[in-house]
Amino acid sequence: MAAPPRPELFDFHGVPMINIFTDDWDNIQNFKARPDDILIATYPKAGTTWVSYILDLLYFSDMGPDRQTSIPIHERVPFLEFCLPPIPSGTDLAEQLPTTPRLIKTHLPVQFVPKSFWEQDCRVKIIYVARNAKDNAVSYFHFDRMNSLQPEPGDWSTFLQGFMEGNRAFGSWYDHVNGWWEKKQTYSNLLYMFYEDLIEDSGREIDRLCSFLGLSPSAEEKERIRASVTFDSMKQNKMTNYSTIPLLNQTVSPFMRKGKVGDWKNHFTVAQNEQFDEDYKQKMKNPDLKFRYEI
Ligand code: A3P
Repeated sequence: MAAPPRPELFDFHGVPMINIFTDDWDNIQNFKARPDDILIATYPKAGTTWVSYILDLLYFSDMGPDRQTSIPIHERVPFLEFCLPPIPSGTDLAEQLPTTPRLIKTHLPVQFVPKSFWEQDCRVKIIYVARNAKDNAVSYFHFDRMNSLQPEPGDWSTFLQGFMEGNRAFGSWYDHVNGWWEKKQTYSNLLYMFYEDLIEDSGREIDRLCSFLGLSPSAEEKERIRASVTFDSMKQNKMTNYSTIPLLNQTVSPFMRKGKVGDWKNHFTVAQNEQFDEDYKQKMKNPDLKFRYEI
């Protein structure tokens, strides 16, 4: 499929978005969540694929080798708001999923999540993954370079300025992580995780996920999963490295790029870093929501 021209951001109910995430809006808003669905929510590039794959293995690794070798992770875990015909939309894929629980991913800011996810009788488990703003920005920059479905990133300093102004697809990182953090205060079925914690000790974080989800895999199974979800394993794995999607130009930048905490230090100038920190203080006033920039 030929790459369409780069899209422009537009204001969608106060959030910069692009068409491929809003064209299916009626179906998204009317999407019927089921009580046993599991929603993986993130700002783009915060570790969505990593957590998706961990969950897929926790639930479905006993489904035989075919699933693991022939169905890419983005088909096992549909992207709710994605809509680019003739590719099946996220809502269609989710509705057709043959497995239970359905694992569904979204980058929507919390106020855009279909209301059925919040209904009282539908206590859907939600896992939110957040990543520190500086590494998140760097990862998003390289992703926009290699993904022609995303708006043109420009050079690094242009991109960073746009990121700080909240002018990227799915809007402001600051609003996103804060909005979901606030939701956690009232919606108890929400686990708020950090990319940095996963990097620090993925085994511990898999344990946290298991206790949140009420799963109790054996020690051997957990170790097998931990080994399968390392950066190197996922980078080699065609089902998790997005090499099946020709629209992503992995010669520009691989999807599984570095997988590190602190790569921002290779991108931010001293002046950019000072300006970023100053701006950050103004936008991130909640002392409870803390990020780590190195570990
Ligand atoms: P980098 O660009 O910093 O390497 P998402 O899945 O939300 O699009 O996030 C992609 C980012 O998560 C990329 O970050 C990617 O390398 C990183 N990532 C994916 N799987 C990972 C893993 N197993 N370990 C560490 N980082 C991982």
